Amino acid sequence: MNKKLYMVSLGPGDVELLTLKALNAFKECTAICVPTKSEDNSFKKSISYRIVRDALKLLNVTKEIIPVYSPMHFDKQDWINEADILIDSAKKYNSICFVTLGDAAIYSSIYYLLDIIKEKDFTLYETCEVIPGVTSFSAASARVAKALCLGDEELLIKPINPRGEVKTTEILMRPKIGMDTKALGEGDFYTFENMYLQDESITNSKINKVKKYMTLFLKFASRD
Ligand SMILES: C[S@@+](CC[C@H](N)C(=O)[O-])C[C@H]1O[C@@H](n2cnc3c(N)ncnc32)[C@H](O)[C@@H]1O
Repeated sequence: MNKKLYMVSLGPGDVELLTLKALNAFKECTAICVPTKSEDNSFKKSISYRIVRDALKLLNVTKEIIPVYSPMHFDKQDWINEADILIDSAKKYNSICFVTLGDAAIYSSIYYLLDIIKEKDFTLYETCEVIPGVTSFSAASARVAKALCLGDEELLIKPINPRGEVKTTEILMRPKIGMDTKALGEGDFYTFENMYLQDESITNSKINKVKKYMTLFLKFASRD
């Protein structure tokens, strides 16, 4: 079996909010690494464990479950320890999943872990696939049947207790075909056209002119 590291988004809590891609990753892998805040590596309080357990039941498969002690103290050494567990697990089991609540793009530790894995085991890093999921706030909006953005409204996601300077990632969507993108400014831009569709194109810069309505831009917060 080929080596593979899946970073799987679990959604906000209900197993029915897992994606088919997440379920397929669980089917394909040999072991699933599940974070736990308990020092004794138990899953007594782990929401992630409950979702994974329910998913495996649904799939009617069993997988090796590896606890990953994740104290969530925002400490580099903790992320190194967690990354080491993933690196060791991949050596033993070849194809592994690591799971994260909600969507991996939103305040998840997976990108701290991936930075460390990139340095320590580049071959494993290159096998990584991040599987997106339902965010807590898109689920919250659905729970009360109220849109997050309508018409010309913007959406703002804010950390309630920032540890320092707050930087902003911008998601720019609903462009006009033929528009010049100069007005969008400069920065760490990516352009996504027809994502997951025929003729998908992902460019790690800002395209100059919009050709398709199904185009969105990410302007990432500047990170050192
Ligand atoms: C570390 S962030 C992870 C966010 C997650 N990756 C996402 O996509 O929503 C944890 C925060 O997400 C929110 N959150 C996540 N799941 C939630 C849920 N099931 N109910 C309410 N809030 C939730 C809470 O604000 C919580 O403090």
